[in-house]
Amino acid sequence: MPVLKVENLHAKVGEHEILKGVNLEIKGGETHAIMGPNGTGKSTLASVIMGHPRYEVTAGSITLDGEDLLDMSTDERARAGLFLGMQLPQEVPGVTNSDFIKSAMNARLGEGENVSLFKFIRELDQAVASLKMSEDLPHRYLNDGFSGGEKKRNEILQMRMLKPSIAILDEIDSGLDIDALKTVGDNVTELQTEDRGFLLITHYQRLLDYIKADKVHVMMQGRIVKSGDIDLVKRIDQDGYDWIKEEVGIADERVIPEGEDEKEPGMIGTCATREALEK
Ligand SMILES: Nc1ncnc2c1ncn2[C@@H]1O[C@H](COP(=O)(O)OP(=O)(O)OP(=O)(O)O)[C@@H](O)[C@H]1O
Ligand SMILES: [Mg+2]
Repeated sequence: MPVLKVENLHAKVGEHEILKGVNLEIKGGETHAIMGPNGTGKSTLASVIMGHPRYEVTAGSITLDGEDLLDMSTDERARAGLFLGMQLPQEVPGVTNSDFIKSAMNARLGEGENVSLFKFIRELDQAVASLKMSEDLPHRYLNDGFSGGEKKRNEILQMRMLKPSIAILDEIDSGLDIDALKTVGDNVTELQTEDRGFLLITHYQRLLDYIKADKVHVMMQGRIVKSGDIDLVKRIDQDGYDWIKEEVGIADERVIPEGEDEKEPGMIGTCATREALEK
């Protein structure tokens, strides 16, 4: 049974400390949900667990089955069994969706080993059908021209094919229509087995109507400030976050308070294309 353990995790980007002591343990068979207002560090946590090079871990640890993940590249973490379904999936023109998935599957096998093409196609077809995706999507360039909902379904398609031991899904519900939400919910529910743990990042109770979560955490100022069960989600849905802020004794829940981000022009919301053009 896999165990992902995050202890006292601190991470920064540039001068800004974004994660300020996150503690979290997810075991196989468990589904945890992280909620919290915008800009409180949820996606950063997902990126840091996955090993995004932009973030520097300054303290704490992340382990999977006792193995130190901080020593591993993103690639190695994926091979170790981690998966991240992203809030904003990248478009990769020039690489077809199915080639991308096949390469990712092959990368998880030993040197010189490959997934059987027959098995791959059969599994992919099944996954596409189960996600009610259009049949041409595997053959198009990865996320290129995909609608918002298609991109989200495609993250689940990848997850189905890669069979991770810990899957982090960042706002998988955003941009999904109600039927798609049910389809994605059914697919995730089917994958909630003892040998797999989930971390769902979401803003809405709606997702948790379709996917059962065992534990719910609220993130503010770069750490988990409150944990509970589904009743906590219901209260948040009804009353928002002010009561939690009051309980915890904080006025501004964001990691970077308003105005601070202006001190470092170019730091926040940097645009790769613009940077390239300016060079
Ligand atoms: N690479 C980065 N460069 C600059 N600032 C960053 C970077 N990554 C995160 N931040 C800042 O850290 C803060 C937390 O961002 P994060 O994306 O983790 O929030 P979030 O909780 O996922 O919010 P949302 O609910 O809006 O998705 C934000 O103020 C964001 O601008
Ligand atoms: Mg986010």
